[in-house]
Parts: sequence; structure tokens; C-alpha cells
Amino acid sequence: MIELEKNYVPVVWVTGATKGIGLAIANAFAIIGCKIILTGRNRSQLEINAGKIIDQGGYALPLVCDVTSETSVRSAMAAITKKLGSVDVLVNNAGVTVFESFEKTTVKEFDQIVDTNLRGYFLCTKSVMTSMLKQKKGHIFNIHSVSATTTFYNSAVYSASKAGSLALSKCLRAEVRKKGIRVIDVLPGAVETDMWDKSSRKKFHSKMLQPEDVADAIVSVYCQPQRMTTDEIILRPVEGDV
Ligand SMILES: NC(=O)c1ccc[n+]([C@@H]2O[C@H](COP(=O)([O-])OP(=O)(O)OC[C@H]3O[C@@H](n4cnc5c(N)ncnc54)[C@H](OP(=O)(O)O)[C@@H]3O)[C@@H](O)[C@H]2O)c1
Repeated sequence: MIELEKNYVPVVWVTGATKGIGLAIANAFAIIGCKIILTGRNRSQLEINAGKIIDQGGYALPLVCDVTSETSVRSAMAAITKKLGSVDVLVNNAGVTVFESFEKTTVKEFDQIVDTNLRGYFLCTKSVMTSMLKQKKGHIFNIHSVSATTTFYNSAVYSASKAGSLALSKCLRAEVRKKGIRVIDVLPGAVETDMWDKSSRKKFHSKMLQPEDVADAIVSVYCQPQRMTTDEIILRPVEGDV
């Protein structure tokens, strides 16, 4: 069992915490005793997820936040500040995709993917940056994908958004690492979540990672000794990409 510093209860904000990888990350940080802020667009699901953490004796604050909207991110941040002061750990996780050829991908789909996976990371990170710089500490985990660095069919816009978020993140890390802020890139391969259709999940079930695998890797990096950090976590199914 990993233990936190005595008398220190970190505040962890997980975006896209209604299901999948985000929910697993929220639960994993709750288990080690952190205060969890769960955000997403589906209020009732956030309340159910937060309720389960609270039932287990943890602290959870469910808040609606659409990461594509500057206004929505700002009001979520205002609510967090009022309730908890500041965020110690931000997990940029909310993400979307379409598995579609370049030709068939619409402009609307392009905007939704880039606005969520790239602009969303920018907006949420900006909203915590001032207080992290002031505290001279903080962790920012950015969930990208192996598609940021690997070529896949039917994933042009998704891959572009993830390559963009990875580039954004690397530059940010260079700017803030000497100021006590750890920016950690997480590049998972295929994880069995709703991002995949039912038939793909059935076909590749035995080869896919589970959301808890990603969550456990993140929490173990979070709990590393203070003197070190991990810049990049790459997680793949043993047999390679699906
Ligand atoms: N599954 C994989 O194979 C895989 C592999 C590598 C990386 N990833 C990355 O992992 C992250 C999580 O994906 P997942 O597989 O867990 O997918 P998922 O099960 O479909 O969950 C996506 C989450 O993102 C939230 N979300 C989507 N758009 C949002 C928006 N505009 N504002 C706020 N929240 C939004 C959804 O909540 P609401 O709908 O309630 O808002 C949901 O909680 C994504 O960044 C994804 O790209 C996934």
C-alpha cells in the first residue's frame, strides 16, 4: 500500500471522470487518500461516481465541466477554488475520437476532437498554472496516446490532436520543471473502454489494457520519491498495438 506524506491530503482533478480511464484514475487516487474532483459533461454519472468514493470513506467533488469551453473550465475552477483552495494534481484525460478515414472525417468532427484533446488540455492546464507556480509544486498528467507517435489507419485527426497535446506538454515541461511542477506524459496503447465499439472490444479483449492498468501506473509514478520524476509513461499491450 502506497502512503502519502503525513498531514498532506492532495487535491486531484481528473477531467473526463464519468467513465473509462478517467474514472479508474479518480478511483485510484481516492484509494491512496487524495481529495478527488471529478469533472465531465454528464452530471448524474459524475454524482454516482463521486457517491461511490464517498461511500468508501473518501472525498469527492463532482462538477460539470466541458473542457472545450473556456467559460465552463473557468466556472469549474472558481468552484474548486471556493471549495478546496487549489489543485495539486491535474489529470488531463477527457478525450474523444472517431475511427474514420481522412476523407470521411467532417470538419465538425475535426473541431470536436481538436477542441477536446488539445484545446481542452490547454484550457485546464492554464486554469491551474498560476496557483501551481505560486505553490512551487504540482503534478500534471497528460493522457495522450501511442497514436501521437505511431501511424494508424482511420485516426488522422485523433493522432494529430494527440501529437499536438504531446508537443504542448513537452514544451510546458521544459518551462516549468525548474519551478517545481512535474508534467508527465502518458501514452497508452489500446485500452478497453467505450472509445472502442462493441465488436472491437470483443475481438481484442484479451489484448487490450484495462483502465485500471493506466491508473495504477499513474499513481505509482505520483508516489515516486520527491527527488525524481518520470517524464513519459508508455503503456502497451504485451503483444503490441491492436
Ligand atoms: N481507450 C483507449 O484505447 C485509449 C488509448 C490511448 C489514450 N486514450 C485516451 O484516454 C483518455 C480517456 O479515454 P477513454 O478511453 O477512457 O474514453 P471514454 O471511456 O470514451 O471516456 C472519455 C471521457 O472523456 C469525457 N469527455 C469527452 N468530451 C468531453 C468534454 N468536451 N468535456 C469534458 N469531458 C469530456 C467523457 O465524459 P462525458 O461524456 O460525460 O463528458 C468521458 O468521461 C482520452 O484522452 C483518450 O484519447 C484512450
